[in-house]
Amino acid sequence: MLNRTPRHLAIIMDGNGRWANKRNLSRSEGHNQGTRAARSIVEEVRRLEIPYLTLYAFSRENWARPREEVSFLFSLLGRFIQGELQSLIKQDIRLNILGELDELPMPTRKVVNHACSKTKSCSSMNLNLALNYSGRHEIVRACKAVMQKGLSPDDLTEEVFSEYLYTAGQPDPDLIIRTSGELRISNYLLYQSAYSELYFTPTLWPDFTPQELRTALEDFATRQRRLGRVESI
Ligand code: IPE
Ligand code: IPE
Ligand code: MG
Repeated sequence: MLNRTPRHLAIIMDGNGRWANKRNLSRSEGHNQGTRAARSIVEEVRRLEIPYLTLYAFSRENWARPREEVSFLFSLLGRFIQGELQSLIKQDIRLNILGELDELPMPTRKVVNHACSKTKSCSSMNLNLALNYSGRHEIVRACKAVMQKGLSPDDLTEEVFSEYLYTAGQPDPDLIIRTSGELRISNYLLYQSAYSELYFTPTLWPDFTPQELRTALEDFATRQRRLGRVESI
């Protein structure tokens, strides 16, 4: 067993397109293979008893991609969630969505809402899909909700504010992994990642294996998290 495992692991699953390009395959094929990697990582995280996993599936900025790619991604996502539903229930995994569901195509919304409600009482692990997600949008949205509630400035604390985020009630990510060699956050969990450890790997997402996840977790276990203090915790 690993020495110290995160409670909340978040992943930026990047590099599907480049994986396909390298093989002269379509970007769609890269996304297809990406879902296989996602399935095996979810299973591994469940085995490792990490209670929160957040996967970045689609950013609000991703709408700027060609229309065919966007619609392929949503249909793939719908098929993926539908195909995984029984397995999620069996593994006792609760599915949550972080993002603006209302802006998604109706068939995707239906599948997603169905899967969320079917897994509502699962409690061994939380799987968050960041879907139509933007960290800045999430913060602005939370500000609007706070204002609408009529909260007085004196009552607004960091803890109260975090209850207005999509991740309300969840711990902040301890570790964020990004695949594909890009060294950026791309609008992911901006508020929640204040003290997250970051791990970057050149591996393209479809090639990311449970073995490599374990390597990342071993690296995480050696990190000294000081949270501003002199000594590590
Ligand atoms: C990540 O792979 C999947 C999504 C963003 C939906 P990309 O599609 O970004 O792949 P690259 O970065 O072009 O290789
Ligand atoms: C981040 O990847 C979003 C997802 C993995 C869903 P992108 O490929 O969209 O990020 P950039 O454009 O390289 O920053
Ligand atoms: Mg990318």
